[in-house]
Amino acid sequence: MSSTFFDSTLSSVTQPDGVAPQSPAMPLESFQRSRVLLVDDEPAFRLLAERFLTQQGHQVLLAADLTQARQQLAQHAVDLVLLDLSLPPSFNPEDTLAAVPELAGQPVIILTGHAERELALGAISLGAYDFLAKPIDPDLLAVVVKRAVSKHRLEQELKQLKRGATASQGLAPLVGVSSLMANIRTLIERIAPTDVRVLVTGPSGTGKEVVSRALHQLSHRASGPFVSVHCGAIPAELLESELFGYVRGAFTGADKDRQGLLSMADGGTLFLDEIGEMPLPMQVKLLRVLQEGSFYPVGGREQKHINVRVVSATNAQLPELVRQGRFREDLYYRIKGITLETPALDDRREDIPLLIQHFLAQLGEKTKQPVQLSTPALQWFLQRSWPGNVRELRNTLESVAAIARHGVVQLADIQLLQFDVDSSADDSAPQVTVDGSSSLEEQVRLLEIRLLSDALTQSQGNRSQAARLLGLSRQGLLKKIERYGLTQQGLVD
Ligand SMILES: Nc1ncnc2c1ncn2[C@@H]1O[C@H](COP(=O)(O)OP(=O)(O)OP(=O)(O)O)[C@@H](O)[C@H]1O
Ligand SMILES: [Mg+2]
Repeated sequence: MSSTFFDSTLSSVTQPDGVAPQSPAMPLESFQRSRVLLVDDEPAFRLLAERFLTQQGHQVLLAADLTQARQQLAQHAVDLVLLDLSLPPSFNPEDTLAAVPELAGQPVIILTGHAERELALGAISLGAYDFLAKPIDPDLLAVVVKRAVSKHRLEQELKQLKRGATASQGLAPLVGVSSLMANIRTLIERIAPTDVRVLVTGPSGTGKEVVSRALHQLSHRASGPFVSVHCGAIPAELLESELFGYVRGAFTGADKDRQGLLSMADGGTLFLDEIGEMPLPMQVKLLRVLQEGSFYPVGGREQKHINVRVVSATNAQLPELVRQGRFREDLYYRIKGITLETPALDDRREDIPLLIQHFLAQLGEKTKQPVQLSTPALQWFLQRSWPGNVRELRNTLESVAAIARHGVVQLADIQLLQFDVDSSADDSAPQVTVDGSSSLEEQVRLLEIRLLSDALTQSQGNRSQAARLLGLSRQGLLKKIERYGLTQQGLVD
């Protein structure tokens, strides 16, 4: 088994001139992170390939043999399998080859030594996507992996299209891949074309307004107005005239007729936001409008008829408010129709990466400057709890992006804004898991290699600086570089 490594592993981290070493920027497109399964029995190769592919923006799953590969595939959807041909227990390439058709639900790229070239060609006839000869050229690996992932994604999308599962183009702003969001999308698509009243409930910042707008956009009223009334923000004494409008002379200062929000919403959607905050006297009046479809402007005698679809939203527990006598039960049942609940972001954390990508792209468009997150910064965003939900995520991204330099948000920027940065979010902290798959000695060796290569990356190959970072003498560092054969492996030039 070859243990040759990519020779550009270290040099792939480039820094702008005069800037302190920073973590590599993660390309924007990688937020829809592709998942690559690497099957190779050689721990050091796995380690370096993992590093390289992670730097390229892929999420990497590892397996040392086919059994582990099958376990990983049972638990995760992957975009690509990188498969070494010589695997334990038999190390017989033919045995590995036999598994290719079974793995070919996603592109399989065979990693092979030159001698096995014939076998690799055979693998392609069995359904493998491509093969790469070791020692592996990192640039080639990057390109082949990227191409294979795109191919896989495209095929998946085509499949979905064929199943008719993407009727949601109109819902572009409703970002999310979780099953909870998928349910909401399905419900929106079903409910939107009807005139049924909808109550959108959920914690603050979870997207109730986004959902309500989507209901409008996908309805036959889409070309009509979407009128939003913030029931808590308009002072109680003004709410009636704001909603119903008034006629000239209705009160002091009413020097001409004025249309209310209800009339403005005619033919479209009336969005009653924070309906739980509507004062009780106004609730009675609203109930009448909803029952009769008509109302009188303040001071007016002429009844107005309107045709609106009513969508309400609240983060309050309306049944609880009803029990407390703060919300009318009859109104509650009038507005309820179908209830859509937007879930807390922490209950659908798989949506976070896509939301980050979405907001960064939006920010980039707004400021005409692309913004990226460094890998540790991304990890911080991915690991943190978001009690303020999507709004908090969005605001936090906006603040850190505002102070980022060179278009890349670093963990230090997040720290600067006094967010809690857990040291475990820093990717310079090596992670070693005790899983019985390798001896303590082997793990220590890998840990040392990782620390050495991290220090050399940070110091951009400057050995004296790397030695200082590690608290070693330059001599001590050189010895270790030699002991681990890092020069031969292309880790150090
Ligand atoms: N699924 C989503 N996709 C894209 N953006 C979203 C999504 N959910 C929420 N947002 C964004 O998050 C922010 C908060 O969303 P929204 O105003 O709809 O929340 P809300 O539930 O109405 O909050 P509140 O209860 O505080 O009024 C907005 O900037 C919105 O654009
Ligand atoms: Mg809202």
